[in-house]
Amino acid sequence: MPLILAIESSCDETAVAIVRGEPGRAAEVLASEVASQIDLHREFGGVVPELASRNHSLHLRPLVEQALRHAGADIREVDAFAATTGPGLASSLLIGSTAAKAMACASGKPFLGINHLEGHLLSPFIGLTAVPPHVALIVSGGHTLLLDVAGPGSYRKLGSTRDDAAGEAFDKVGKMLGLPYPGGPEIERAARTGNPAAFGFPRSMLNDPHLDFSFSGLKTAVLYTLQRESAPVPVADLAASFQQAVIEILVGKALKAVKRSGKRVLALSGGVSLNGALRAAFGNACAPRGIDLLTAPPGLCTDNAAMIAFAALLRHLAGEHSALVEDIHPNLPLV
Ligand code: KG4
Ligand code: ZN
Repeated sequence: MPLILAIESSCDETAVAIVRGEPGRAAEVLASEVASQIDLHREFGGVVPELASRNHSLHLRPLVEQALRHAGADIREVDAFAATTGPGLASSLLIGSTAAKAMACASGKPFLGINHLEGHLLSPFIGLTAVPPHVALIVSGGHTLLLDVAGPGSYRKLGSTRDDAAGEAFDKVGKMLGLPYPGGPEIERAARTGNPAAFGFPRSMLNDPHLDFSFSGLKTAVLYTLQRESAPVPVADLAASFQQAVIEILVGKALKAVKRSGKRVLALSGGVSLNGALRAAFGNACAPRGIDLLTAPPGLCTDNAAMIAFAALLRHLAGEHSALVEDIHPNLPLV
């Protein structure tokens, strides 16, 4: 059964994974190692590219060795080496893709350059025997994307954000509320004790016929509310009301997309799909409509290499490989 080793280094997580699989069988994740740099970047309130790439190069080799150890595999058994080649930070992408190419070159095995967004999109299907036709909603720090998926590699864009990504809005609002980076999990925590109806924030574009998103008006509405409020600022209520607005926009647009596409499966992926309130709202919306909701396991929602290895495995099984001269693409689109 083919064994794939993949590296993900598009942003601030250095990750290495080893996945094994064959057609008609669920892929097995034998190792999925992540060296998070979140603590390193927290004091700057966001990702510092120079620091990120330097740490990728420091962590990568021990992480490859750790992944091989956890998988109980020898590097000579690996059938193909993969890496994220975009979208992401150029200096970070270069570290992982150069390392994967070097291993491919040294071992005479193929290299596969993988789109980070395809990794997220396919992550809910790791552990299943097939990727059925479905509607995909990718909600991450950099992207908010609705797609009609006929199968692996066959994607049609239905809608995307016209300004901030959903995760970016969480991070920016987290910063406004004085919460640590990244804001998403912090807002979710603060929102648990807050009233989601305390503030009537806008649900931008929710009732428009198109399937695009906009989160910058919502972010500005939170800012104006903060400027208007006399101290103390009710952080829990603001967080809960903001989170509720994001959830209603995402659920509303995704349901519209499912209805229009005629699909019966909705797959959620990306860091924001870790949000418990969001998952619950999607669950409540999908069940009565007979829509199958698929989400990635929690460890595979935020950036990881197992999703990259899985995307690479499907391509490897289809006989597709990349040239060793393939460049990185910081703005690589999925469709
Ligand atoms: O997919 P991801 O790890 O990286 C990108 O490809 O961007 O997503 C990171 C994003 C960040 O914006 C982070 O705040 C958000 O996912 N996030 C969350 C939660 N956990 C992570 N947003 C809302 N609720 C969460 N629990
Ligand atoms: Zn990501």
